[in-house]
Amino acid sequence: MSSARNNKPVRKAVFPVAGLGTRFLPATKVLPKEILPLNDRPVIQHSWEEARAAGIEEFIFVSHPRKDILQKHFEAQPDLEKILEAGNKKEWLAAVRESTLPAEKLHVTYQPEPLGLGHAVWCAKGLVGDEPFAVILPDDVFIADKPCLAQMADIYNECGGNIVAVMEVAREETARYGVVDIKKDSGHLVDIKGLVEKPKPENAPSTLAVLGRYILQPEIFEHLEKGEKGAGGEIQLTDAMAKLIGVQPFHGYRFSGARYDCGTRAGFLEASIAFAMSDPEMKEEAESILKKIIDKNRTAA
Ligand code: UTP
Repeated sequence: MSSARNNKPVRKAVFPVAGLGTRFLPATKVLPKEILPLNDRPVIQHSWEEARAAGIEEFIFVSHPRKDILQKHFEAQPDLEKILEAGNKKEWLAAVRESTLPAEKLHVTYQPEPLGLGHAVWCAKGLVGDEPFAVILPDDVFIADKPCLAQMADIYNECGGNIVAVMEVAREETARYGVVDIKKDSGHLVDIKGLVEKPKPENAPSTLAVLGRYILQPEIFEHLEKGEKGAGGEIQLTDAMAKLIGVQPFHGYRFSGARYDCGTRAGFLEASIAFAMSDPEMKEEAESILKKIIDKNRTAA
């Protein structure tokens, strides 16, 4: 991400992946939900590719020792490569190498207990240092002509400060999100005057919800440092972000594209169908599979 207005470039992205994934148990008893496949690659690879497309150079996983398979996915697999090479399986070899990262680009730090998203981000403080950074929640996946974080990077180069991806949600869903108090709405760009974590529909300042893509300034760590607990007794990133509002520029960005929530079973199913439909190799087959299942169920009903 280069800068047109002397904003410090965003070179690092934090991936908080230390959560328990309880909504997917027992699937997540051993396997992290971020390693589950969405179309042809694990969920974590989709968000890593998005970060890379936005010019991110260093990838920081805030994880847990029981989820070490996540960084393993990005390590070289010489034995597998040897077999693919011997079989002249060039396409698969390229796919394997595509997701291989040099060790110095991938950093892993552990969050011993899932004390909240804010705490997870705080765990990355030493690896981020004194520079702006992106936060990516791999549960949120996007289908967009230009990847969501790359769209945000363009806006960052104009506005600087802090930027969060936002999306309209139904009022009855506000309690699942951080919600924006709008100062000025200019369409794609929203000037933010406040943020509330998981408000009840009747208390929500708007229906504009914050999604799992953030560009933040390092001053956020000063607020996270305090370890104050918020909604659900967790250390919330939203509360620390709210403290930067009025001190630094703070914008919401209505991205172009579609977003899917892989953090729930229904959302994961929807994402799986949408990704298959948007893949030219899978589209026809996916359509015919869906049609077959729907027809069969109708006949049985
Ligand atoms: P979620 O709220 O989806 O929690 O966290 P979860 O543990 O992943 O899933 P459930 O609710 O138990 O089913 C959103 C993101 O923040 C990370 C999660 O790994 C996920 O990427 N997170 C959350 C942490 O890394 N640490 C925490 O303490 C909380």
